[in-house]
Amino acid sequence: MAVMKGQVLVFALAMAFAGLIGCVVSYDRPPARKDISILQPNDFSPTSPQQVHISVVGPDKMRISWITQSSAPAVVEYGTSPQNYTNSATGTSSSYRYLLYKSGQIYDVVIGPLNQNTVYYYRCSSESTREFSFKTPPAQLPIKFVVVGDLGQTDWTNSTLQHIGQSDYDMLLLPGDLAYADLFQHMWDSFGRLVEPLASQRPWMVTQGNHEVEKIPLIHKTPFTAYNARWRMPYEESGSNSNLYYSFDAAGVHVIMLGSYTDFDPDSDQFKWLQADLGKIDRGKTPWIFALVHAPWYNTNTAHQGESESDLMKKNMEELLYKARVDIVFAGHVHAYERFTRVYNGNADNCAPVYITIGDGGNREGLANKYLDPKPETSVFREASFGHAQLEVVNATHAVWMWHRNDDDVAVSSDTVWFTSLSSDPACKL
Ligand SMILES: [Fe+2]
Repeated sequence: MAVMKGQVLVFALAMAFAGLIGCVVSYDRPPARKDISILQPNDFSPTSPQQVHISVVGPDKMRISWITQSSAPAVVEYGTSPQNYTNSATGTSSSYRYLLYKSGQIYDVVIGPLNQNTVYYYRCSSESTREFSFKTPPAQLPIKFVVVGDLGQTDWTNSTLQHIGQSDYDMLLLPGDLAYADLFQHMWDSFGRLVEPLASQRPWMVTQGNHEVEKIPLIHKTPFTAYNARWRMPYEESGSNSNLYYSFDAAGVHVIMLGSYTDFDPDSDQFKWLQADLGKIDRGKTPWIFALVHAPWYNTNTAHQGESESDLMKKNMEELLYKARVDIVFAGHVHAYERFTRVYNGNADNCAPVYITIGDGGNREGLANKYLDPKPETSVFREASFGHAQLEVVNATHAVWMWHRNDDDVAVSSDTVWFTSLSSDPACKL
């Protein structure tokens, strides 16, 4: 009897403690925040480089992109010590018009060959007052990615970027919806200035979302004008004929960037390219495969249900990714976080990709708070909060995924899970 009473007391204390913890972690969903506008600093001249960002090109080169108001040399000088530029490369520049807006000069210079895992210092257009530095990714595993979608440019975006900046990552992967310019082209410039401190230091590898389309019937018929001009990715190197889909290797990972807002039917260029790209992967060299899309193929949020970019693209392409044993498919679009188990054709399958929605970067539209009930068993973790994720691929077999909720401007790791590569699972050999 005394033992029983003791157990009841322990249970009561545990419940009280759990209640206390519950109070501590109870979480009010933060409201959306308005766009912020990052203006050009007053001390900039018309030829000052701004909006600098970098992206990998092949195993040992880096594309440097920047913008000036007036024409300046398309040259990057670089070296491994500050202000000691032992190499230089020249490239091209272009501009675009969108309604009444005319962009500045947009520069595209590929530098290299570069050593792996090495810090380089560089300047653009020979402007001595603005020196930047970046670190090249490692040649071998481990490698650490940051994954974040639907960034936008609000105070929540700022909070997300601050948290990202505190992590020592090698490369950022963005599954679409960058600036939320939505036709207002100066917002692209503002976004470029907002992300420059991070995007000039580490490669930002992106694919496009619906907010990048910016097509106006009869008035501006060409889609992705600003996106393609400002965020050129290394598509030619992977045999793609479009900036909207491409692939690349990073250490032991083959990363595939797909386009949710271009053709994806079995006769399309994108489909054929994907088929060919998957066929070329050497799992001995890249034991991991990640794919990124914008519109999620698996989603239990009430937002964005029934869209053809999700449902039809999944119907057309899911089997390709499944049979290639893609490890993880990242998506954005839904402004929340959701992690599925390994799933194929709606059912849990140990040899299928893990599907993750990470569209919670912090844009002005706010969070997608409502979920379908009951929760299917294939959805393991779902939460509508702003945040980002870090993914460290430790070796050929193991990787650790950590989703960080911004939680009132303080980084909190709220969902951590270890993944095992499908290439290391004998049961998944084809
Ligand atoms: Fe979207």
